[in-house]
Amino acid sequence: MAVTTRTPLIAGNWKMNLDHLQAVATVQKLHWTLKDAGHEGDSVEVAVFPPFTDIRSVQTLIDADKIPFALGAQDLSAHDSGAYTGEVSGAFLTKLGVKYVLIGHSERREYHAESDEIVNAKVKAAIRSGLVPVICIGETAEDLERFGASAVPADQLAKALDGVSASSDVVVAYEPVWAIGSGQAATPSQAQDVCAALRKVLASALDEDAAARTRVLYGGSVKSGNIASFMREPDVDGALVGGASLVVDEFAAIVRFEKHVGV
Ligand code: 13P
Repeated sequence: MAVTTRTPLIAGNWKMNLDHLQAVATVQKLHWTLKDAGHEGDSVEVAVFPPFTDIRSVQTLIDADKIPFALGAQDLSAHDSGAYTGEVSGAFLTKLGVKYVLIGHSERREYHAESDEIVNAKVKAAIRSGLVPVICIGETAEDLERFGASAVPADQLAKALDGVSASSDVVVAYEPVWAIGSGQAATPSQAQDVCAALRKVLASALDEDAAARTRVLYGGSVKSGNIASFMREPDVDGALVGGASLVVDEFAAIVRFEKHVGV
């Protein structure tokens, strides 16, 4: 794969943490921590994925203070509108200035029975609404033992992209289930091998251009102490961070990975 110009994306998935007041305080503090550290915003894109109930408050703050963070949501409905109690449509999210939406996170696959078909329908719903789907895939410890690291995530990604047009803007997040919240991250070379395999899936499901421009993130126990080693890998274009995104100094240090990549 040629040398690319993919802008790294550091994304914080807050999961079901931080109410709207805590969200505002966290985003403000993150912004000032990065500013105080002299962080220049252009070379890395930062995105936060708060719970739905926080999004309007975070949007208002980001707009008012011109904070250069992208806003993401953690899920959306596969439907555009109608009698779907409790669901949130892509159009509602777009209206709130949301750019990204996580789809198929392993916690939704596990606790909400989200199948590959539902994930595919949600990817299409996100694209219809003008959102960028962040397609989450990853193998369990059992899958790893039985099939190796790339087979299950590659299959999940191919199914998520079924019927998606090659010109679509998507992000892929490789999150081995065994690495999420465990403190046991994949090794950089494991992450690289799977991310490279996923890029091949992008080439066959979409096209070569999509494979070259699409960002593939690693997620699972990313911290300030290991981010640089992942970002040195050619096919890892950023990180989807859970627990460490709730700790402002830690997340700011992850965003500033260029300071310790040493290249
Ligand atoms: P941790 O960073 O807490 O392992 O979570 C990763 C994750 O699930 C991000 O979506």
